[in-house]
Amino acid sequence: MGFGVDIGGSGIKGALVDLSTGRLHGERLKIPTPHPATPDAVADVVAEIVETFDWQGPIGITVPGVVKGGITHTAANIDPAWVGVDADELFARRLGRDPDDVGVLNDADAAGIAEVRFGEERFGRGVVLLLTFGTGIGSALFVDGQLVPNTEFGHIEVDGHDGESRAAASAKDNEGLSYPDWARRVNRYLSVLENLVWPDLIIVGGGVSRKAEKWVPLLQIRTPITVATRQNQAGIIGAAAAVAEGIAH
Ligand code: BGC
Repeated sequence: MGFGVDIGGSGIKGALVDLSTGRLHGERLKIPTPHPATPDAVADVVAEIVETFDWQGPIGITVPGVVKGGITHTAANIDPAWVGVDADELFARRLGRDPDDVGVLNDADAAGIAEVRFGEERFGRGVVLLLTFGTGIGSALFVDGQLVPNTEFGHIEVDGHDGESRAAASAKDNEGLSYPDWARRVNRYLSVLENLVWPDLIIVGGGVSRKAEKWVPLLQIRTPITVATRQNQAGIIGAAAAVAEGIAH
């Protein structure tokens, strides 16, 4: 068993994770993200979630930014106060745990770990790119199942714009785009990206992947595309797996 917490723009979610199946064990608890989502305010919510469960083992926590050695380095869609924070130390202190028992990693990297470990067998072969479409666009790159951490492909420049500003799911919602109109933007974004990375497979995830039938069939790119198996639970599952594997430090 493991435990994962996924920090997102609208909600912070935590659950026990069965690490033999890569499925949630029991109910997931979701609490709205505080505003402003400063490190201390978020840590309070993370503690509230963890304390609800009877769990003393390692805890994996995702952050929607670059995380290296437990330090958060970017904050594209979260409070700027996160830049330079020792998130590992912050959460460990707030949770009353040993820093070795807390692992912090990028949200998309966590989602990718969930898919590669527990999704389809082919996800573990070759160059595989997972993209999460949400408030921003997150990316996780794998070579034969091995993560290349902290790729930030949501921010590649597409037609003079930050990629995620036009192709994230939030752009669809904020601009009231239909699925076909938004799919055209995603298609343009993916065609620029696939020319830079040349993956063997792209896995699309994030909450909007639950409605995959409305947009994924409209995409016409060179790279084979498939839909994430764990959708928006992947962050929780991957965070728990990453800390158990010792790759989230
Ligand atoms: C951030 C990434 C994050 C992604 C999804 C982007 O804006 O730069 O680090 O993975 O959003 O949350």
